[in-house]
Amino acid sequence: MYAKIHSLSFSYHDRAQTGQLLTRATSDVDMVQRFVGTAFINLISAILMMVGSVVLLFVTDWQLALIMLLLVPLTLGIVAVLARKARPLFMRIQQQLADLNTILQENIVGVRVVKAFARESYEQARYAAANRSLFALNMEVGRLMAIAIPLVFLIANLSVLAVYWIGGYQAIAGHASVGRLVAFANYMMMAFFPMLMLGMIVTMLAQAGASAERIFEILDAQSEVEERPDAVPLPPVKGRVAFEHVGFRYFSSGPPVLEDINFVAEPGQTVALLGATGSGKSTIINLIPRFYDVTTGRVTIDGYDVREVTLESLRRQVGIVLQETTLFSGTIRENIAFGRPDAPLDEVIAAAQAAEAHEFITALPEGYETVIGERGTTLSGGQKQRIAIARALLLSPRILILDDATSSVDYATEARIQRALERLMVGRTSFVIAQRVATVVNADRILVLDRGRIVAQGTHAELLHESPIYAEIYYSQLET
Ligand SMILES: Nc1ncnc2c1ncn2[C@@H]1O[C@H](COP(=O)(O)OP(=O)(O)OP(=O)(O)O)[C@@H](O)[C@H]1O
Ligand SMILES: [Mg+2]
Repeated sequence: MYAKIHSLSFSYHDRAQTGQLLTRATSDVDMVQRFVGTAFINLISAILMMVGSVVLLFVTDWQLALIMLLLVPLTLGIVAVLARKARPLFMRIQQQLADLNTILQENIVGVRVVKAFARESYEQARYAAANRSLFALNMEVGRLMAIAIPLVFLIANLSVLAVYWIGGYQAIAGHASVGRLVAFANYMMMAFFPMLMLGMIVTMLAQAGASAERIFEILDAQSEVEERPDAVPLPPVKGRVAFEHVGFRYFSSGPPVLEDINFVAEPGQTVALLGATGSGKSTIINLIPRFYDVTTGRVTIDGYDVREVTLESLRRQVGIVLQETTLFSGTIRENIAFGRPDAPLDEVIAAAQAAEAHEFITALPEGYETVIGERGTTLSGGQKQRIAIARALLLSPRILILDDATSSVDYATEARIQRALERLMVGRTSFVIAQRVATVVNADRILVLDRGRIVAQGTHAELLHESPIYAEIYYSQLET
């Protein structure tokens, strides 16, 4: 299931709630495990014991055994009703638990925002409400069990009463022995006990069934980005990236986010993407490592359509710094070496130097072995970004993508990173997204985007003459 969660595409995770995935991966798995581990074994012994006792009942006194036979369907009927009612209830319980976990997870991750906006009491009330719903659902299950289980007991006791009543008359009349009667009553209890157990097991089965259904929803989920069965590994590339009439929507009913995108990045070129926020810059670069599939047209690398090659061989050759930096708890060295855990320290240091991170790392008390907090919370925004750049550079990828990777660092540092990249990226293709024109003036090709379309492309000098939008962006930033 964990592997499956990893294999699902970005679009799946765009929609999925973390709390749902967490609950399914923990609580639901636990329910199934509990059933398989205990109830299933008890089920076998319950069936054996029931069959054995019924056989003994008939051997002891077949006439009295008929009483028992009348009551068995009644008991099984109660068990069946219990199971039918319990399953949808358990489904709702797991759903409610997931909702509760979603609130919990969101609030723990966002605890700083909650506190900053003084929304603690509101969020606590929201959690309490979800918690009360969960409690109410569990109470409903409890009530169901509180009726069903004693009912089975009642039937068992009434039948013992009937046996003593009828058998008693026979014994008094001298037709049967008292010893046989007592033995019979004991066998009878032995036959009812497994039925009671069956009631418990059936409830657990209902619970496990509901959870299994939720687990299979994940296991059966279709990833929108699937490797073709005949996918070939992408051989080491030179880095010619081409977009041919690419159109894209995030979901089929949604608006087109990209329309008719055409450009070619030759190996060794630096391509810059410029445009207003929401114009589709990140969307374009997400299509190169195939985080999403194009809706129309195609994206090729060295002539290979990215949909024809294996995902791993493709992504191994693309170094990417995403717009939102995500680090993991662990040491700085482990974070930089995330893509190549066996990289020697000097390579880690070289990558950090190119990303202008070496200096601040060595100033930390434990240097590269400094443990950073979850998601890198103990670092500043610009420090996190530079670690993310070093992480991408360590792969020494043929294609490097920097999505707003220097937005949190100052001008001077950004300029130094740029110079290092120019050195490192010789012969490799890089894509740079930046808000500042100054970052992109030296690019070999600048793509100017406006609402999902490329409205101009060329070098800085060309665009300054030809593209009013570019000129406007340039001069407005120049003034400030
Ligand atoms: N995962 C997603 N699901 C649905 N729509 C999305 C998703 N990501 C982005 N969009 C939409 O696609 C459009 C383009 O977004 P994109 O992230 O490419 O913009 P951008 O140019 O990178 O902006 P910015 O400069 O703010 O990063 C936006 O209208 C946005 O709302
Ligand atoms: Mg973006």
